[in-house]
Amino acid sequence: MSNIKLVLTRKDITMQQEITPIPVRPWTLNGLSERLIVSHYENNYGGAVRTLNAVRRELAGLEAGAPGYRIRALKREELTAMGSVALHELYFANLGGEGNKIPDQIRAVLEEHFGSVSAWRREFVGAAQSLAGGSGWVLLTYSRRDRRLWNQIAFDHSQAAVDAAPVLALDMYEHAYHLDFGANATAYIDAFMRNVDWAAVTGRLAAVSADRSLPHEDPSDKSLPSLSVEELSAQLAKGERVQVLDARPRHHISRVTDLMEGAIWRDPDRVEEWIGELSTDEPVAVYCAYGFHVGCNVTKALRERGFDARYIRGGVSAWYAAGGARAMRPAGG
Ligand SMILES: [Fe+2]
Repeated sequence: MSNIKLVLTRKDITMQQEITPIPVRPWTLNGLSERLIVSHYENNYGGAVRTLNAVRRELAGLEAGAPGYRIRALKREELTAMGSVALHELYFANLGGEGNKIPDQIRAVLEEHFGSVSAWRREFVGAAQSLAGGSGWVLLTYSRRDRRLWNQIAFDHSQAAVDAAPVLALDMYEHAYHLDFGANATAYIDAFMRNVDWAAVTGRLAAVSADRSLPHEDPSDKSLPSLSVEELSAQLAKGERVQVLDARPRHHISRVTDLMEGAIWRDPDRVEEWIGELSTDEPVAVYCAYGFHVGCNVTKALRERGFDARYIRGGVSAWYAAGGARAMRPAGG
């Protein structure tokens, strides 16, 4: 008999969902603004993660004999939030490409399953347009059950098909486009199609066709020590001393009025001017806007000078998405 013990912590039991750093560089999209994408990520995706965690805490805390209506309501909310989290992660990670450049490999698959690429596109875009003014998701989905691709509409976050894996997700909730396009869903759908990252679709399709799970699409730099926003939050809650450094570029910080509570902003281009202010006795947590490179570069510079520095995966945007506290930025700093 195996003597391996399965030890579950409270966190395991409640299956707390962590925020995934935004996978797309939101300032690079063609006709979709940074403001729109970041608002969508922090408020709607972040909101779904926070709801899911709250619902799971409630489920874990239910007493034996809890009324059926309470269990049903919570399980319904859990399913909806799980769908929203998963679909939003797919959505952000399938943006950032050149939508018109469909790789030959995907062209061949679309031709096989839909007759032609234009027939696939006509049905996919038509399904999206049918949701204008309403809400839902349009998904290019691989049905494991039928071993084929098909386009589906999910009328809410919980309607993804049984035994199928979405390989391309289009969010048709108004929050996905209203800031940029008002009620003009057609212009939004055009912009989405221009920005589809077919490399992401290819990777997903390769995985599900081979009966593997969808790839983990976290863009974080694994070569450098880092911490998640949840880990930082837990450290701060325990009263551990951490120097939190906001290293967003001057051109970015000049457009915002707030920063992570407890952080200080320092210009990432002038490390030598302020590095002497930091204590060598306490770890440093460095963040930038989204965690792509600025925070990493400052972290590298600090580590080279002997500091115990880590960068915060997903940057301040992930912190806000997780519901982290924000403070007003002092004038000039
Ligand atoms: Fe959304």
